[in-house]
Amino acid sequence: MEISSSVAFPTIGIVLLGGISDQNRRIPMHDSAGIAYSDEKRSIRTATSLYISGTREGYFNGNRITPDNSYRSPFRIIEKYEGRIFDKLGMDQKNRFICFRSENHGILSGSSDSGAAALGKCIHSILGNDLDMGEFENDLRSVSESVGRSFYGGLTVTETDGNKAITRTVADWPVFSDFTIAGCPFPEPRKPSDTIHENIVKSELYGERVKTAGNRIRKLEGLVRNGELEEIFDLAQEDTEDYHSLIESVGVKIINGAMRSFIEKVRETRKKFWLSYIVTGGTNVFVVCHNRDLGKVMDIAGGNAIKPLQLKISQGAMSFEKH
Ligand code: MEV
Repeated sequence: MEISSSVAFPTIGIVLLGGISDQNRRIPMHDSAGIAYSDEKRSIRTATSLYISGTREGYFNGNRITPDNSYRSPFRIIEKYEGRIFDKLGMDQKNRFICFRSENHGILSGSSDSGAAALGKCIHSILGNDLDMGEFENDLRSVSESVGRSFYGGLTVTETDGNKAITRTVADWPVFSDFTIAGCPFPEPRKPSDTIHENIVKSELYGERVKTAGNRIRKLEGLVRNGELEEIFDLAQEDTEDYHSLIESVGVKIINGAMRSFIEKVRETRKKFWLSYIVTGGTNVFVVCHNRDLGKVMDIAGGNAIKPLQLKISQGAMSFEKH
């Protein structure tokens, strides 16, 4: 019996996160910012539903998974909130379990955020105002460190005190309706983001990175207040450049030769019209441009044998009421 369903959209970092407290709680070690994205039709998404069954189980992209205690397991969240969900639904919990089914559609990167957020939205749609949202976000964080980006959507900032991190939307998605992101995939398996988190903190420049990220968040909020939208993405590009040179210095290379030469093309093109680029933890180059310039960006990508996806900044997770 299905009790709730939701969709959530994947994410891209704007001020990139590097360094988390531990693999379990995954508390960010500095402030960061990001956006949720999808295509125009919102078909790029994670779709998740919760149902009740006599065995504890879950399905991820059609594969059955059984509960384990591994870190990042969605079962931990479900187990924590299960009793309250049965209470709210007025159901006896005996011999019954809350189970989940989750499917990713067309996601380039940032799928763990949308997975955690879609699960969270399913629970939120049932428990609603009964939830302490700060505590809830931090529970969901154990599945994905930047879940708030997808849960709340638009442009979000996540601030941390080292023990807890809270996300808020600083610019809602319609603010960016004049922008398109060409998501350019490069065929190479991605490295787990934990490789970045574990190594970046080893740099002697890490303390500086933490400060720079914090300063950029303050600057970003000023840009939002003044409606300086291109500058937000210029700041993101600057952050991408700093971040990747720092992780490369500790042996984690994400930007390969083909990506680098495409990035050079993008940088060249900036002399002709405005555009900027972002690279997060996957082998994708996200090129942000005005809608009117998308054709030209697609031509540059096509000339480099890249097939971009046309992406828009999207809203937060949405539920479909069932109860
Ligand atoms: C993964 O937790 C974080 C990166 O994708 C950077 C970011 O998006 O903030 C590596």
